[in-house]
Amino acid sequence: MDLFRYVREDLHAEGVPLGEIARRFGTPTYVYSAATLREHYHRLARAFAELRPQICFSVKCCSNVNILRTLGALGAGMDVVSGGELARARLAGIDPAKIVFAGVGKGDDEIAQALGAFQPPGAGGSGGSGRNERGAGVGLFNIESPQEAEVIAGLAAGLGVRARAAIRLNPEVKAGGHAYISTGTAENKFGVPAREAAELIQRYHGHPGLALVGVHVHIGSSITEPGPYQEAAMRALAVMDAARARTPGWTGEVLNLGGGFGADYRTGEAPEAGVFARALVPILRERVRGGQRGGAVGGGLQVILEPGRTIAASAGVLLTRVRYVKANGGKTFVVCDAGMQTLIRPSLYDAFHFIWPVRVRAEQAPPRREERPPLPDLIPVDIVGPICESGDFLAQDRLLPRVERGDLLAVFTAGAYGMSMASHYNSHPLPAEVLVDGEAARVIRARETYEDLVRGEGP
Ligand code: LLP
Repeated sequence: MDLFRYVREDLHAEGVPLGEIARRFGTPTYVYSAATLREHYHRLARAFAELRPQICFSVKCCSNVNILRTLGALGAGMDVVSGGELARARLAGIDPAKIVFAGVGKGDDEIAQALGAFQPPGAGGSGGSGRNERGAGVGLFNIESPQEAEVIAGLAAGLGVRARAAIRLNPEVKAGGHAYISTGTAENKFGVPAREAAELIQRYHGHPGLALVGVHVHIGSSITEPGPYQEAAMRALAVMDAARARTPGWTGEVLNLGGGFGADYRTGEAPEAGVFARALVPILRERVRGGQRGGAVGGGLQVILEPGRTIAASAGVLLTRVRYVKANGGKTFVVCDAGMQTLIRPSLYDAFHFIWPVRVRAEQAPPRREERPPLPDLIPVDIVGPICESGDFLAQDRLLPRVERGDLLAVFTAGAYGMSMASHYNSHPLPAEVLVDGEAARVIRARETYEDLVRGEGP
């Protein structure tokens, strides 16, 4: 579901024609729909309501402070993986208790920052970044290795605080799309094996600098089936039960199930949130509600979810202008002002994004988003960017209505891992970001200038 719809011949973001946004703000531009963002957050929250989960939006997928603020207003916490993302979440006014700090390579200074040793600039207080200016620590660390546990425990003890953390289990469950984004199997760098997770919980029990209060799993991204989640949740619960059996007094307060729920790149590709919830709620209901059974983790379990894509992907399109149409070797190339520097997913993961002209004849408004829409007068094209690499494309061998120099195209489902992965390659300034809410459109990140491009490079 999203609110990018054709009204007669013109694609609109909610109540605003995208043509108007291009005229006012130029291209390439990422355009977000606030109502779509809210709707996807609510769908997930409603589906999992029985578990009363803390939903921590995965900042890496769409990190604009205004997007974070929009979700924060609904009660979302944030999943951050760097000091920079933590600073963004704090600037957006997110309660640190609702922030989860994950990431396989946390720096000592980032850990100190997350422990509240100092506040990021602008996040309350006088806005300084001096280390003696204390802030509140994050609600939870997700710890990835024994060495990281040692470092966090040591730094926290040195600061006189106790870090609250979950140990990330590598559940050895295969899930997700492209190999680059599958995380839950033994051969990749994430988490620790089940035995080690239970051992670590025991080792740190009662430690003054580290409270390992639960288990974290995240099995991958773009997952469209509930089975792997069930498997991973059961393995995580088994680790908690094993830890509890060997660690008197340890209760196991938190189960963080990670993110990974797919999005609708093609119409109907992603299941409703309810499909995942129906698979997971029965496994977790009792643990959340209470009632201790046979050595199992007791009631009152707090469930955390770290969704990114399923909330943000459909809420954004990339608006780009056609610069040239050229024919080479029997192929037609539509050359746009957006390319791999703006949206790298097609080049990097072979990802599919539906692309369509912003203005069409009424009969060419696409009924579904797919590679080959069943419409008349379409021609096969490659949609490419301005970058000097053949790997620079937004789509290959795609059917499109005939377009001309100056026409606008919309690249759909680009709200997640679009702008957040954009680069300056070939010295293109980063694009603008615009947030539409009803009839109103406002710039939430100004298009970069050439000055921005060379900042810090000296005179
Ligand atoms: N939690 C953890 C620990 C993660 O590593 C990730 C994503 C998430 C949550 C959020 O996953 P999501 O719900 O968005 O699937 N750049 C790739 C995706 C990389 C995902 C990395 N981790 C892409 O464009 O498809």
